[in-house]
Parts: sequence; C-alpha cells; structure tokens
Amino acid sequence: MQIVQTVAALRAAVADARARGERIGFVPTMGALHEGHLSLIDLARAQCACVVLSIFVNPLQFAPTDDLAKYPRTEAADIALAASRGATIAFVPSVDVMYPGPRVVSVIPDAIADRWEGAIRPGHFAGVLTVVSKLFNLVQPDVAVFGQKDLQQATLLRALVRDLDFPVTVQIAPIVREDDGLAMSSRNRYLGVDDRRAALALSRALSAVSGRFLAGVRDATELCATGDAQLRLESAVRCDYLSIVDPVMLAPVDTASVGDYVMLAARVGGTRLLDNHRLGEPFPVLR
Ligand code: PAF
Repeated sequence: MQIVQTVAALRAAVADARARGERIGFVPTMGALHEGHLSLIDLARAQCACVVLSIFVNPLQFAPTDDLAKYPRTEAADIALAASRGATIAFVPSVDVMYPGPRVVSVIPDAIADRWEGAIRPGHFAGVLTVVSKLFNLVQPDVAVFGQKDLQQATLLRALVRDLDFPVTVQIAPIVREDDGLAMSSRNRYLGVDDRRAALALSRALSAVSGRFLAGVRDATELCATGDAQLRLESAVRCDYLSIVDPVMLAPVDTASVGDYVMLAARVGGTRLLDNHRLGEPFPVLR
C-alpha cells in the first residue's frame, strides 16, 4: 500500500492507478479503524482495483466544546489493517495540507441537518460535507463507501452528491455488530465494563421495535414506546432521541412503512452512541 501525505502525491498515485485502467474506490475515515470500517474497504475492493483510504481527523466537524485532541489516533495500526484488507493508497494529510489558508467557503446543508445529530452538534454536518467535498475533489473516485451506522451523515452525503452533481456513486454499507448486538464504533473503546454491558440496551431497543413492526404494528408512537421501554431498563443509558423516520428527509413519521428507519442516540455513561435499523428487515439475532 502506498502512503501519501500531500495533495500532489495523492493525485500522482491516483493518476497512476487510472493510467493502469483501474477503477477508484474511496473510503474516507477519521482513523481508529474497526471491523465496520474494514467492511467498507471490502465493499470498495470488490468493485475497484484501486482503493483509497483517507485518515483525517477533521477539525471542522468538532464543536469547540468537543475534545478534538482526545479523538483516538491509531495511525500505524490503521494503515496495517487497511493494507491487510486490500486498500492500495492511504491518504494521511495534516490539517495544514487539508486547510492551507484562510477558508471562506463551506458546504452548508439544508434544514434536514438541523435535526437529530445536527440539533445536538450544531455545525457538525457542514464540517462533514465540506471535508468530504474536498476529499471527493482530491481523489475523484468512481465509488465512495460510507457506513449506515451514521445514518444522518450517510443521508446527507447522498444528498450532497445528488444536489451538487459530484460524479461519484455513493454506497452505504450495512452496520457491523459485535456478536452481542452492539454496533461497532470507534467510541466503543471508551466504554467501561459496566457501560459496555448497559450499551446493549440500544440494540435491544432496535430489535424490539423491529420485532413489533414485523408483527404488524405500524403506529410510530407505539413503536417508539417499545424502544424507549428497553432503554429505560438500563439506568446508565440516557436517550437523546429515538424516532421512526422516512429514509429521504429523516423526518418523523406517524405511521411506519417498510424502508423507514428507527434511529436513536443515547449517552451511556460519558459516551454518546448512535444506532439504527431499517424497518422490514429482520434484526440480527442477539447472543
Ligand atoms: O464518518 C467519519 O468518519 C467522518 O465523518 C468522515 C465521513 C470521514 C468525514 O470526516
């Protein structure tokens, strides 16, 4: 795997791959890779001989109150893992490479970004869409792969490509779960033993909602109450939101349909976790 740190080196590496006739797949990350990220590389690799992985902890998507400095940085291990799964180029820029001068233009999403995560982290999605736009322009991939776990991010990235006509196909890869159901996340490493156990309430809540939907319940209030009841069984879990939403605007629905999502965010101890599930699909069996 080629490791590149500058824009010129990235462009040269991608141009070489293009000259060999390779399709370019792209997996943007902030590092701290786990099996969820690696599944994105697998999906890109299945379609593209060249897979670019970026590792960049993007300051624009952190609020001043978020601890950017504390974000886990495990670059050497990330590069080894990505190489073992067939990524061919790792782009690891510094902040100065990504944001070299005064920045006066950003990509600001519409109101869909102001709810859910956007309400709790104002400006977060402008930071995500701005950096991903820059990365798309730098890498110019055929295919870019993101994870379903960050459902609102994935939805906004699809909208970015559609509304601003980026010539890239966005693919959303399914959530990868631990055997006991916990959705994989870089933040899981912050969970102590008790919180790790309590965090299973999230997947249990989704599983319960999914089960009731499959049993024929369509009333969103009733479905949400089922999920909330599961979360309340764990005193360490504080729910930020649990809602049934449509897949395009992520607006709450009154009556659930196949293809809507149940999405939730909760604090477990000091760690904020997100999870979701597409209604109509069976929830994976939990150990
Ligand atoms: O999901 C992430 O890791 C980040 O938000 C992304 C898409 C790499 C942009 O910094």
